[in-house]
Amino acid sequence: MKTVGKIFHKRSMRKAPLAGKTVLVRADYNVPMRDGVIQDDFRIRSSVPTIKRLLADGCKVVIISHLGRPDGKRVEEFSLEPAAQRLAELLEQEIRFVDDCIGPRVKMAIKRAPSKSVLMLENVRFYAEEEANDQDFARQIAEDSGAQYFVQDGFGVVHRAHASTEAITHFLPSVAGLLLEREYERIVGAMKQPRRPLVALLGGAKVSDKIQVINRLVKVADQIVIGGAMANTFLAHAGKPIGKSKAETDQDEVISGIYEAISRKVSAEFRDNFLVLPTDVAVAKAVDASQERRVIPVDEVAEDDLILDIGDASIERAAAALRRAHTVIWNGTLGMAEFPAFAHGSARAALELAEHPEIASIIGGGDTADFVLHWDARGGDSFTHVSTGGGASLELMAGEKLPGIEALLDA
Ligand code: 3PG
Repeated sequence: MKTVGKIFHKRSMRKAPLAGKTVLVRADYNVPMRDGVIQDDFRIRSSVPTIKRLLADGCKVVIISHLGRPDGKRVEEFSLEPAAQRLAELLEQEIRFVDDCIGPRVKMAIKRAPSKSVLMLENVRFYAEEEANDQDFARQIAEDSGAQYFVQDGFGVVHRAHASTEAITHFLPSVAGLLLEREYERIVGAMKQPRRPLVALLGGAKVSDKIQVINRLVKVADQIVIGGAMANTFLAHAGKPIGKSKAETDQDEVISGIYEAISRKVSAEFRDNFLVLPTDVAVAKAVDASQERRVIPVDEVAEDDLILDIGDASIERAAAALRRAHTVIWNGTLGMAEFPAFAHGSARAALELAEHPEIASIIGGGDTADFVLHWDARGGDSFTHVSTGGGASLELMAGEKLPGIEALLDA
């Protein structure tokens, strides 16, 4: 991969005079939580290098984040206190949690805190002003924090124009954190300056959710391999039987458009080599963990079959495509990966990438990241980059400008 710092057009915290300052950090600690227990701390772990670097520079670090969608009301189950506890464990340092993000208690706590200390404020979405991108609310966060700088490191939320991602940048000099910078360099670098061949592995449920990304990949990739329920929509378009499988019925025009663009790029003759669909599939009669994997050719799917994974021959073909690649962008699991019998395609893709570290592997956030992180005994280190952003990584891959990034100071 290219070295960090060549593609990103915004100022990095590495290039800002932050030493000894009070720094307001926007993190994305929107982590899965059950009964107050964090189910996956990947986003918290990923924010640690930024915070450690600020502490090493003698900063006072004030962290803000959102969690869930509490709709502008204080809802205890969306408190960030468990995230503060987990971060304290990871940093091996005490964290002062303040149960509000504005107001006199916040002001006082931050004022009293020594340098090299970390404070975490309560969920910014407890105020409706957050999602409304309210200027006064952002000004108050900036003022009450006493910060001299704002560091945006919540990559997962930079596709939202909210008070703590956009408006806040009007009140403090605003730079990118190390995680945001890395996410941008890796994702945009793979799209703009990939070592070729660039193979895109696309899965997940819907064509309609990923149409911008597919269109962009048709332009920049050398091959696209399709799996997941998304493949069913393509197979149905091609006139194949898909039984009771999940698919979208209103995407024919979109898919025709995709094929036209592919034919312009590689000629109609090679379009099925460019966009690779499964030739066999794993089916079951119901969606549950007790179902056995039954692999059949795509032409033999019965009326009561559900396609739940790509088949074994398709897995081999996908694996061979990955091995030929120098860069792989993977977004969306290739089957119902929560059931082991239908996780074969996704597991094999993960294995190929993990066993071939010479292939730059960029794994999109959301379900794909969840899958590889559970699969990988090295916590994601077997891949070049596992994104912390779901919607944000998709929008970045689609070439969109994200408001929380664009608002930062230029490099
Ligand atoms: C995410 O998890 O995608 C981000 O934290 C953004 O959350 P949101 O979709 O509730 O805005």
